[in-house]
Amino acid sequence: MARPDVVTVAAGVFLLRGFARDLDVALLQAVEEVTAISPLRHSLTPGGQAMSLAMSNCGPLGWVSSRSGYRYEARDPMTGQPWPAMPASLSDLALRAAAQAGFAHFRPDACLINQYAPGSKLSLHQDKDEADFSQPIVSVSLGLPAVFLLGTTQRRDLPQRLRLIHGDVLVWGGPARLAFHGVMTLSDGAHALLGRRRVNLTFRKAA
Ligand code: SIN
Ligand code: FE2
Repeated sequence: MARPDVVTVAAGVFLLRGFARDLDVALLQAVEEVTAISPLRHSLTPGGQAMSLAMSNCGPLGWVSSRSGYRYEARDPMTGQPWPAMPASLSDLALRAAAQAGFAHFRPDACLINQYAPGSKLSLHQDKDEADFSQPIVSVSLGLPAVFLLGTTQRRDLPQRLRLIHGDVLVWGGPARLAFHGVMTLSDGAHALLGRRRVNLTFRKAA
């Protein structure tokens, strides 16, 4: 049941072009409030390398990567404090986007904030540290454009390339919930509001 403003890019994958655009100033301010408490940091992968993107979280749970693996935690390991609360401007947006894509009952308990500088990338992976795969992933793109790699649930399948720009929201769930995905090396540029960076917000139901 595609709505005119929702593009189905694959079974279970919905692109809401420009859905977050009008909210950009408020969203960015919310991100700044969160990262003033739990700063963006380059976490280590289990292999011991620093990730090229910088991350933080808000909400009851935060996604954490370290030498001991990937997991959700209620506290920021950097500050020892609970992750900052999820600002209503962020959770409202995620709820509305999920509902537009047909996931009416999405109530995220985790929001991962990823900041990409030119040269940063994210290798193909599945989001599979969450407890309930009936709930979708809602991903909001702000700042510099990126090429998003959207695969299938099989790592060997060649991913399709989706150009995501400022304000785009991508929702994946159902048959695509465990789709492999990643972000190609970010090209340099300057965004009018965010400057030389891309910020991605990924909302999940983790527990
Ligand atoms: C992610 O997979 O966690 C982030 C995806 C993105 O930055 O678009
Ligand atoms: Fe992901």
